[in-house]
Amino acid sequence: MAGIRLPPEDSDIPQARAPTYADLVSDDDRSVAADSWSIKSDYGSTLDDDQRHADASDALASGNFRAASDYSSDKDELDSEVVTSMLGLQSYWDAAYADELTNFREHGHTGEVWFGVEVMEIVVSWTKNLCIEISQGHMPNHLDDAKSEPVEQGEKYLSSWSVLDIGTGNGLLLQELAKQGFSDLTGTDYSEGAIDLARSLADRDGFTYINFLVDDVLESKLERQFQLVIDKGTLDAIGLHPDGPIKRIMYWDSVSRLVAPGGIFVVTSCNNTKDELIREVDSYNQRVLGASQEPDTPKDQDVSRDSPPFRYVNHVRSYPTFMFGGSVGSRVATVAFLRS
Ligand SMILES: C[S@@+](CC[C@H](N)C(=O)[O-])C[C@H]1O[C@@H](n2cnc3c(N)ncnc32)[C@H](O)[C@@H]1O
Repeated sequence: MAGIRLPPEDSDIPQARAPTYADLVSDDDRSVAADSWSIKSDYGSTLDDDQRHADASDALASGNFRAASDYSSDKDELDSEVVTSMLGLQSYWDAAYADELTNFREHGHTGEVWFGVEVMEIVVSWTKNLCIEISQGHMPNHLDDAKSEPVEQGEKYLSSWSVLDIGTGNGLLLQELAKQGFSDLTGTDYSEGAIDLARSLADRDGFTYINFLVDDVLESKLERQFQLVIDKGTLDAIGLHPDGPIKRIMYWDSVSRLVAPGGIFVVTSCNNTKDELIREVDSYNQRVLGASQEPDTPKDQDVSRDSPPFRYVNHVRSYPTFMFGGSVGSRVATVAFLRS
């Protein structure tokens, strides 16, 4: 899973090494953590500004993987010799959001917007247009986000879309979707601190109707399905766990249960290109179809025996691109899949 790896901005700085679990529990774990994942946002920084110069994309892209042979829960102690990234560990996020909450309570800071405000705004307006098109019976595969105009009076459709943001963090993506006209909004995160922060911000900003729940997407307790499921940065974080490859399969299993038939899944990643995401979904589809054709598969499975669970619909085309190693790429990819 190559992904586009950005070169370090300063070549004198040694190649970024993914922080290890040993780093996390070292004496200065919070500052290591802050340096490794922060991206400055227009909403204001929450930790020491001088330490917030590292790019979140680089942090996520610097993770190393171990063979997916022996799955273990990230709540367990990890082998300190395994080189991995803290961003794959719940302990990292719990500590990060404890800081974010303190900063919110003491200074009113909102916290970080992953991949920046511009990306968030593109994701929101592109997703909104996609939902309007689908509501009107179109299945767009060339929706040009740069030129697309909101479909006339299309906002009226949005209130009927149920939305789930997995790994919602501070929940600002949902607030932006609410501003566009979505009203049935739920955000989940496995970190209780994230949910406390998201709820506090939503209350402060007048979005008391957004639901926030603690839930691990890999072992989701949600019993409801949603027409729009959205992820910005969560699959990236999950992939950085030492058992990332297995957790990614669990992730797709869970997402396929959470998206209602005919609904869509919109994923934004800085660690996978659009083509890699499509390939990952293709292999997941093949795996599910193969398993469903086994003679002893229970008939009550929600996946049809002949149709793949996900189908590529469209991707954001307006992100700035750059050349690296002879290839053209963008820093982030946003791809939509339709749930059959
Ligand atoms: C890179 S941050 C993105 C936060 C938010 N989506 C945004 O765009 O600002 C990844 C988020 O995923 C959450 N997360 C990671 N693994 C998770 C899991 N298994 N279940 C639920 N949330 C998870 C983390 O707590 C964190 O809030």
